[in-house]
Amino acid sequence: MKLLVTGGAGYIGSVVAAQLAAAGHQVTILDDLSTGHADAVPPGARFVRGDLRADAPALLAEGADAVLHFAAKSLVAESVADPGLYWSHNLGGTLALLDAMRAAKVPAIVFSSTAAVYGEPEAIPIGETARPRPTSPYGASKLAVDSALTEYARLHGLAAVSLRYFNVAGAVRDASGRWLGERHTVETHLIPNILKLARDQSGPVSIFGDDYPTADGSCIRDYIHVGDLAAAHLLALGACSPAEHKIYNLGSGTGYSNLEVLAACREVTGLEIPVKITERRPGDPAVLVASCERIGRELGWQPQHGLRQMVADAWACGDC
Ligand code: UFG
Repeated sequence: MKLLVTGGAGYIGSVVAAQLAAAGHQVTILDDLSTGHADAVPPGARFVRGDLRADAPALLAEGADAVLHFAAKSLVAESVADPGLYWSHNLGGTLALLDAMRAAKVPAIVFSSTAAVYGEPEAIPIGETARPRPTSPYGASKLAVDSALTEYARLHGLAAVSLRYFNVAGAVRDASGRWLGERHTVETHLIPNILKLARDQSGPVSIFGDDYPTADGSCIRDYIHVGDLAAAHLLALGACSPAEHKIYNLGSGTGYSNLEVLAACREVTGLEIPVKITERRPGDPAVLVASCERIGRELGWQPQHGLRQMVADAWACGDC
């Protein structure tokens, strides 16, 4: 297939683009490099540095079978500080992309949605029918895109799949053997933060809160290996069906506490990794665990890698 991958120089987008190119698809990556890296573009993919509004229309006019849409702002705290930025980029940018797709008659899209659409869950595990109650402009802007996709499917016949990611971790090698992993300038995620402090021996890891209503008092999250996540995108692409908007959670269905993640990092690295317990981070729900039953049943997807492998691959990748 001929595919446009927006945000394909970022962490998740580059891993998916590498799998798509390796599977023989013709991949064009559009990325403004605001958070991505040109050297993450996989072998065999064409790279265009540019913007959704300014550059997607011309690229789509060249013809495409589908878009995989990763380009987005994705920092929860930044979204709280500057909501307009998130509405403009995440909703406004995507609406511009959808209208460019209509103009060019591009029939299908796979969209990077997020567990953040659910906010504080009413029940665990979280299924796709759970009431979405986002607690940040980031989550709200992604939920608004999901709503727009439902409407574009119903009214314009678009084939759409939204994948709601839980906590993505790990790294993979591309066809040339290079590691593709997390390289965010502002890194908020637990596993890369722990591993960076371990690698640099630069002081204790902060664990945000040990007074949550969980067995060890730290928050529980559902981790998914980025390679497993990417495989789900290829299945989603095959499941795009005209005038339908399908929504799938993507996690593992298993929760690990922050202290269990720290223990896995200590085990993989063989380092002691000092820790200090600090204040809770505002807005963190105690427990987020996905039900992945729907994607298993409908697309036959199952995670292949556990937490230890995610940590081991992130550690092997290093600074990539
Ligand atoms: N944490 C620490 N110390 C750190 C970093 C994180 O204790 O240095 C804790 C957090 O408080 C949280 C857990 O580790 O309890 C996981 O935090 P992450 O930042 O790694 O991930 P989140 O669960 O906050 O974020 C994920 C996605 C977001 C999405 C969010 C929805 O990465 O994109 O879930 O809640 F918005």
